Amino acid sequence: MDGQRGNWSSNMGLILAATGSAIGLGNLWKFPFITWENGGGAFVLVYLICIAAVGLPIMMAELLIGRKTQKSAVGALKDAAGPMWGIVGAWGVLCGFILLSYYTVIAGWSLFYFSKSFGWMVSGFPSGMAMGDLFGEQSSNGALQLGLSFGFSIATVSVVYLGVQKGIERIARTFLPVLGVILVLLLFSALRMSGSGEALVFIFQPNFNELEPVAILEALGHSFFTLSLGMGCMVTYGSYISKTQSVVKASATIVLLDTLIALIATVIMFSVIFSVPGMEEQVGGSTVGMLFISLPELFFTEVPLGRFLGPLFYVLVALAALTSTISLLEVVTSYVIDEHGLARQKATLMCGGTVFIFTILAAISFGAVSGVSNLVVPGAIGETLFGGKIGWFSMADHFVSNWMLPTGGFAVTIAAGWFMTREDTMNELVDGTQPSWFRYGAWRFFIRFVAPTAIAAIIIAVMIFGVDFS
Ligand code: TRP
Repeated sequence: MDGQRGNWSSNMGLILAATGSAIGLGNLWKFPFITWENGGGAFVLVYLICIAAVGLPIMMAELLIGRKTQKSAVGALKDAAGPMWGIVGAWGVLCGFILLSYYTVIAGWSLFYFSKSFGWMVSGFPSGMAMGDLFGEQSSNGALQLGLSFGFSIATVSVVYLGVQKGIERIARTFLPVLGVILVLLLFSALRMSGSGEALVFIFQPNFNELEPVAILEALGHSFFTLSLGMGCMVTYGSYISKTQSVVKASATIVLLDTLIALIATVIMFSVIFSVPGMEEQVGGSTVGMLFISLPELFFTEVPLGRFLGPLFYVLVALAALTSTISLLEVVTSYVIDEHGLARQKATLMCGGTVFIFTILAAISFGAVSGVSNLVVPGAIGETLFGGKIGWFSMADHFVSNWMLPTGGFAVTIAAGWFMTREDTMNELVDGTQPSWFRYGAWRFFIRFVAPTAIAAIIIAVMIFGVDFS
């Protein structure tokens, strides 16, 4: 299959595509919310430490495994660490499959809010509209949900169908700059609002009294999700790097950009929220609350030029989500291409179609079909693996965030730190030069000791104490 494997056209191609994968709903939807829930500054600081001490080393590990083996998740882990490690790769492929099935549904909501806010931009915001009700109506409307997520799936499949350079890289090259421009526009507008000072203090001034110990694990868990780690996604993207491209520079850039965007998104959202009296109490409830209930209205009632920025914001969410769904489908597709010898086009349609069957389950699990919305796995297994969650969407999210990503990430640290030899990994990271401790030893120390210990703490917290990070 060698001749058929794609390659990024340059280091920039990899960086853009991987950054596109990393930046997604995790940055715009989850990070602001958990920062809010965990009291701001101290949590942000802990998160930054987790990103640097655990996220960055694992990013390097995944990319280097891909670059070394030039294979997607299953084949790469087998080649790098031994035949049994194929199971870890397969676990990752399964994780990508499940994650994609429900991620697409939230991505679909951004399309809904884009079309709504575009309508309001043209014909004015309907005063007195209850945004909570609007959210409930759209999410429980089965036909609408199926339509939205089908549209999003088609977009995802089309890009992956076109391949590494013509599809994935080209979309990232076009969309990431657009995303950056929209975000900067929003940031300027938000910083001019009255609440921006308070927002900046909340986000950047650590107050450790607010921080509960379990928040540390939550920050760590989120660093996997936001960097697309723990399921072979970066292994797969790394397998398209040519041997002349640097894993270290790419990893550092991806991690920095992802973190920057998460922080900017948080500054934007909190500036808006702190500018509106009484909003702080209302936002509380849930992750969806902030992005899809509070913000849509605030764009039209509070934000300077919000009429125009509102629709743009939801375009931003949709684009960010699309570059992430692409990476998820690519993990599954490239596995089928590499291990089962299918042509890309056929593999993409097959994988995209199969995932969509589960997307249907997720799409109708918000009240549209009661049997699916009320689905539970009873007993101890349901409680342990799914946290007693109700409905496919919540169950899948729980299982992926609490079990699949941490165990997958843990396995990658062991593969790269303990099963691959020093020479193996050193060759990929420093390309034959004799490295100083800082250039190689530091990474090896973090991947062998720091990262696995930290992740083990997550797994123990989930297993023994039933902590929920989803
Ligand atoms: N990182 C993306 C986000 O923040 C989601 C994502 C894409 C992902 N690919 C992944 C998460 C692989 C885990 C693993 O929204």
